[in-house]
Amino acid sequence: MRAKIVTLPGDGVGPEVTAQAAAVLNRIADCFGHVFEFEEALIGGCAIDTSGQPLPEETLARCRRADAALLGAVGGPKWDDPHAAVRPEQGLLDLRRALGVYANLRPVRVWPGLDAAAPLKAELLRGVDLMVVRELTGGLYFGRKEREPDRALDTCVYSAAEIERVARVACRLAADRRGRLVSVDKANVLETSRLWRATVARVVAEEFPRIRLEHMLVDAAAMRLIQRPADFDVILTENMFGDILTDEASVLAGSLGLLPSASLGDAKPGLFEPVHGSAPDIAGLGVANPYGAIGSAAMLLRHGLGLEIEGQIVEDAVSAAIAEGALTPELAKPGKPWSDTAAVGEAVCARIEEAAENAASGLLNLNISALGA
Ligand code: IPM
Ligand code: MN
Repeated sequence: MRAKIVTLPGDGVGPEVTAQAAAVLNRIADCFGHVFEFEEALIGGCAIDTSGQPLPEETLARCRRADAALLGAVGGPKWDDPHAAVRPEQGLLDLRRALGVYANLRPVRVWPGLDAAAPLKAELLRGVDLMVVRELTGGLYFGRKEREPDRALDTCVYSAAEIERVARVACRLAADRRGRLVSVDKANVLETSRLWRATVARVVAEEFPRIRLEHMLVDAAAMRLIQRPADFDVILTENMFGDILTDEASVLAGSLGLLPSASLGDAKPGLFEPVHGSAPDIAGLGVANPYGAIGSAAMLLRHGLGLEIEGQIVEDAVSAAIAEGALTPELAKPGKPWSDTAAVGEAVCARIEEAAENAASGLLNLNISALGA
């Protein structure tokens, strides 16, 4: 397949982890006969520095021409002035909105060998494999805002149509997984949550009667996520709750640096980015964890380009590289050697090559014709 991929490295550790994710995509292209054309564009603080805009028009135009967008991270202390006219984060929010990527998929799993990396007891982590579907283009993030010296306003607005479309995405994912959906809201207090609950219930009843749906209040869900995380299959929630719950859920995996995400709309391009931020404290040191970015590249292959098998091969390569101990400092066991960002990328690429050789020699039960260029 031929595909155009725009990379948006951004700020802080963004360029370091994006480089490894792009290397993984290149290795997949080489091994499986695809042609990926890469184009880079500016977003966030580095874009403010060169053009005064966190999302320059040229960047958006490049994204619109691409089949998929791979983003690193935005933001940093340099642009943190609360009185600044523009902020890096606004570039990311504007991009999500402009591309119409309303469904943000954030899978959380506990990789074999990493159960000791999380502060929770290993027995609680057994079998954790959940997917958060976060609504990404509505709610408090995009409502009307006002600021006066001593008063401020953020409004939370959701339409039934906005809830329906993201609920369908979550239901389709649940149908392909264990068939269970927990919809998270604050319906005991918020009017938007009452609409959310009624709308999700209707979509499930009318269109996905086989899905087992449970509604959960967000405070209870926050608690359940650390008490009984393995109970969850797909979690569906609005923008702000999803932002908060996915940082919490990353603790289950052992590091925020491990979490990938895919942001999807009704049309291409999807936007693929690690859940972590720009981590300015470790930027430039070569120790940032690239697994979140590499996992996002796997989601780009699967959800963005429809290359299901190649996405699986990247995820298997990640699993193998983690199991063989290719871990950045925050995950390496005390006293054990750690790998830098580039070494982790190389470990994943080596595993991809192994998988390609095995496939070529017929050792893997792959449908080779499905891999055709
Ligand atoms: C995320 C980030 C962003 C968000 C910020 C950088 C605007 O925290 O992707 O989770 O809140 O959505
Ligand atoms: Mn966040």
